[in-house]
Amino acid sequence: TEQKATNVHWHHGQVSREDRNKLLGHKGATLWFTGLSGSGKSTVAVALENALTARGALCYRLDGDNIRLGINKNLGFSAADRTENIRRVGEVAKLFVDVGVIALSSFISPYRADRQIARETHEKDGLPFIEVFVDVPLAEAEKRDPKGLYKKARAGEIKNFTGIDDPYEAPENAEIHLRTDQLTLEQEVEVLLKELEKRGIIP
Ligand code: PPS
Repeated sequence: TEQKATNVHWHHGQVSREDRNKLLGHKGATLWFTGLSGSGKSTVAVALENALTARGALCYRLDGDNIRLGINKNLGFSAADRTENIRRVGEVAKLFVDVGVIALSSFISPYRADRQIARETHEKDGLPFIEVFVDVPLAEAEKRDPKGLYKKARAGEIKNFTGIDDPYEAPENAEIHLRTDQLTLEQEVEVLLKELEKRGIIP
């Protein structure tokens, strides 16, 4: 997205990222969950939020349905709106991570290029971005159909539904790949906690 305003300049503060990390006792990072509707993105984010909170780490969930009721209520599901949805969420997640929070971001985020922009938004400022592919076969997501949306999409009542008549571009090199139809929720949380420990984000 092009910079629209002119004559704007970054204003530096005097509190460093290290100062904030010291207050919290851990570092910030974004875990970026991507996958089909019904793949389990929100479920694993909620379970991880519980586990991190129990360990005394401060995290916050950014979730498609929730964000689309607030900051992104003016966006629909066209390709351009999905791109803007992900751009804004990438920027918001980055702010959380700069504070030192572990941001758990769960959006279908169907386009590889959009996820790459969210990644670069973090990495250009030295902030960790961990892409988590929440992977199930479409048939399995459709069988789960927790909100009855696949049924509606098949009936033509919802247009441009991801996986049915709209694309999902699976990650090619996500840091973490979770087959949620082959792992338990506990195992998934364990994999994610280990990754955060390995990277020195949580002690
Ligand atoms: S995106 O593609 O990343 O901008 O989508 P996201 O913000 O994650 O929103 C996905 C949730 O919106 C509901 N929904 C749809 N999803 C996909 N395609 C269409 N057309 C659509 N219409 C509504 C659906 O409940 C998605 O929730 P999840 O949690 O992924 O099942």
